Amino acid sequence: MSELANESSAQRFESVFSGTAEGTWVAPGRVNLIGEHTDYNDGFVLPFAIPQRTEVAAARLPEHSWEAWSALNGETVRFTEDDLTPGGVPGWGAYVASVVWALRERGYDAPGARLAITSDVPLGAGLSSSASLESAVLGALVDLGRLDVPVEERPAIAQLGENKYVGMPSGILDQSASIRCREGHALFLDCRSLAVEHIPFDLASAGLAILVINSNAPHQLVDGEYAARRASCEAAAAALGVPALRDVSLDGLDDALARLDDDVLRRRTRHIVTENDRVLRTVELLRAGDVRGIGPLMTASHASMRDDFEITVEQVDLAVSAALEAGAFGARMTGGGFGGCVLALVETSAADEVRSAVEKAYAARAFTPPATFVATAAPGAHRL
Ligand code: GLA
Repeated sequence: MSELANESSAQRFESVFSGTAEGTWVAPGRVNLIGEHTDYNDGFVLPFAIPQRTEVAAARLPEHSWEAWSALNGETVRFTEDDLTPGGVPGWGAYVASVVWALRERGYDAPGARLAITSDVPLGAGLSSSASLESAVLGALVDLGRLDVPVEERPAIAQLGENKYVGMPSGILDQSASIRCREGHALFLDCRSLAVEHIPFDLASAGLAILVINSNAPHQLVDGEYAARRASCEAAAAALGVPALRDVSLDGLDDALARLDDDVLRRRTRHIVTENDRVLRTVELLRAGDVRGIGPLMTASHASMRDDFEITVEQVDLAVSAALEAGAFGARMTGGGFGGCVLALVETSAADEVRSAVEKAYAARAFTPPATFVATAAPGAHRL
């Protein structure tokens, strides 16, 4: 399948640019198993890459100019060095330009290039379609320009572009997942030190599966609410006199809460501190080979996002409760929130039953039907 896709993105390059691509670079979308909104609090996350990915067939241009074509809309975006100020390239092309801009900001001479882009990462579903685009473009430019950019530095470069060029105040979760994940593993990332540990995540041999349920809820208020959550966390850390909420331990949580006089800040803090702890406990269970045991932590994480961090919506909560009622060991929303996807940990043989229970619950409420797929832990970004 990937060979076909490879052929197709290289062939598309040929038909769009009447030339031959020098190579094809891919980068996946991701789901986050647990650890939501902890990344910009210097905390812990545990994503894994999904098989859906963005592919970029690319060739170098002699000048510092860029032409990017996307199969999603058949559009070609062109830009030069003159457009490399934030806001210079609008729309989806901004994600491409952001990578060029960020490489240059970090002192790397990003080569001019033609890029033909295809992707099967669902858009607007909280599966990191943008990070997969940025990461694939980054891989292409680094290799085409023979730039010596260590892999551990790449996520921060893509994140810099997204923060400063695109203007989204996201943390480092998505780009780290897309670039650093390994097949068959979840990525345990310390977002302060950027140290990673690849945690074996072998669902199949435990007879389990992760069902991804795209709530298909209209993504609303995402940017503003995301920025508001981030601001609240920063305000809480400042009020507590710590660099980030990561520095509040679970043991110190009650004291910290007593020192905050704002109930919203208290609840945001409680989510972050307990969520960091849930990530650590999830990692412990996986290290011990107890995949099923992580279910209750997933469900507790969802309750915390719903009640304390207030980032879920009706469709998402319904998918979680319907999945649990149908026998899932655990279920939670994944990603930034206000829509997006739910992960349900299920017995492989029960996946269909859980899927149809969620579909039925949606139908009863006349919600747009959810889309579902079973996720396996796929490889991170690489050249084909
Ligand atoms: C979005 C952001 C990430 C992270 C998640 C929530 O995906 O891009 O940086 O904050 O939300 O965990």
